Amino acid sequence: MSKEILKLNIEKAQMETDRKKEDVKNGVMRQRYHFMPQTGWLNDPNGLIYFRGKYHFFFQHNPYSGFWDSMHWGHAISEDMLHWEYLPPALAPSEVYDDHPKGGCFSGSAIEHDNKLFLMYTGTANKGRGYEQTQCIAYSEDGFHFEKYEGNPVLTAPEGILPDMFRDPKVWKHEDMYYMVCGASRENRGLALLYRSGDMLHWKFFQVLAESRGEWGYMWECPDFYPIGDKYVLTFSPMGAGDHTAVYLVGDFDYKTGRFYPLVSGEINWGFDYYAPQSFPAPDGRRIMAGWSNEWEWMPLWKDWGPTYKEGWCGFFNIPLEVRLMEDSTLQFLPIEEIKALRQNPEYLDSLVITEEETELRAGDGVAFELKLKIDLEKTDADKLELFLRCGEGKKTVCLFDFENAEMRVDREKADGWSRGISRSVMYLKGKRELDVHILSDRSSLEIFTDNYRNNHSNNIFAGETQNQLKIRAIGGSAVIKEIETYGI
Ligand code: FRU
Repeated sequence: MSKEILKLNIEKAQMETDRKKEDVKNGVMRQRYHFMPQTGWLNDPNGLIYFRGKYHFFFQHNPYSGFWDSMHWGHAISEDMLHWEYLPPALAPSEVYDDHPKGGCFSGSAIEHDNKLFLMYTGTANKGRGYEQTQCIAYSEDGFHFEKYEGNPVLTAPEGILPDMFRDPKVWKHEDMYYMVCGASRENRGLALLYRSGDMLHWKFFQVLAESRGEWGYMWECPDFYPIGDKYVLTFSPMGAGDHTAVYLVGDFDYKTGRFYPLVSGEINWGFDYYAPQSFPAPDGRRIMAGWSNEWEWMPLWKDWGPTYKEGWCGFFNIPLEVRLMEDSTLQFLPIEEIKALRQNPEYLDSLVITEEETELRAGDGVAFELKLKIDLEKTDADKLELFLRCGEGKKTVCLFDFENAEMRVDREKADGWSRGISRSVMYLKGKRELDVHILSDRSSLEIFTDNYRNNHSNNIFAGETQNQLKIRAIGGSAVIKEIETYGI
């Protein structure tokens, strides 16, 4: 019976998408090369996996409007993580444990097991006592049509854990065992719980992997845990932790005790729009991570959920990033190299002196482009360097490199008439001879990477097609740029 309901709800969702997708395509805020839903709402990346020769991305999806509601798992496949073929949703609410309204199939992950594609997700249902979250399984022989496991839910909240804050399982395999980390809240503090299983269906609590002592909020959403080099990485998105959107911890892990010993912590992103990242191993060994380009906590301040709902959609992913471990155990986050295949009209200059006069730069059509700079810190005597991005119609986003205070700021107060806020971070300049800057611009977003891809700001700006000028100037002296590369995308 419920198999039928699942099938019907997937068909219904697909019909809704088919009915609207041609109109939504023409939206002036649609991204040109970032992953987004064909129609409707998207939030977290789910179940990222390379399976039988294709990248599969699933995502939190409401096919019925440009607002969050009734969570489905949207589904798309790709060969390069840049060009996508959309498929019918993989999961839709259909059972007592994942029914909507305002519930559904919440975030989770994917793994290959028993020659099938397994999804582990959080069923969220309103049982009259508030929302109850449990961990559930679905599987597929072909990677496209999923069936929910009859024994669902496979896990309910343990004692001491709030039943409405127990979600987002991330599964992996080590030797003969399966492991899963999920987010939770205990005594008003966020934590990551570790479970293990021999067969993917029967799960036992193993350990608390890490826990906030107040500094990282009251609930951790979308934890992720994976090996990199000789270390392990834990990432999570804390609720109620001020400006932290996604945090990483790097340390050692002991499978015998389930204990994680963090050595280094850092911010994945300093911008406003990077949340709920998830990662997976690519077939060539790279660790790839995708994040949702938005954040719950600041959005209500601006009312609406972003202006794109007027075009019948909302939400996209940041450009997929490759995660690398540095010698000092910090992490680098580099745009995937597949993006190079999108480059058009390259322009290169091997030196440029920037004065206090505004200089115009050219990068593609000024809307969707890449800009790479190497600033010569030894020859620069300016106090600051300002880049004016996506300017036009009296609007602009200002990216400021303040050498005197070793600070970077991205100011979108005048970006588009809608977005607000200034994102800030400390720039690591000590002993440095040059500063690298890499910018990815798309119609509705700016991603700025610096300090060797360790200091990154992702901010949505809904600047359309007509804000297409790019300018630069120095303040308090001149700045010398050693190399400047631009590409249209
Ligand atoms: C994070 C999150 C998850 C949850 C999902 C619901 O953005 O709140 O914790 O599973 O979104 O859509």
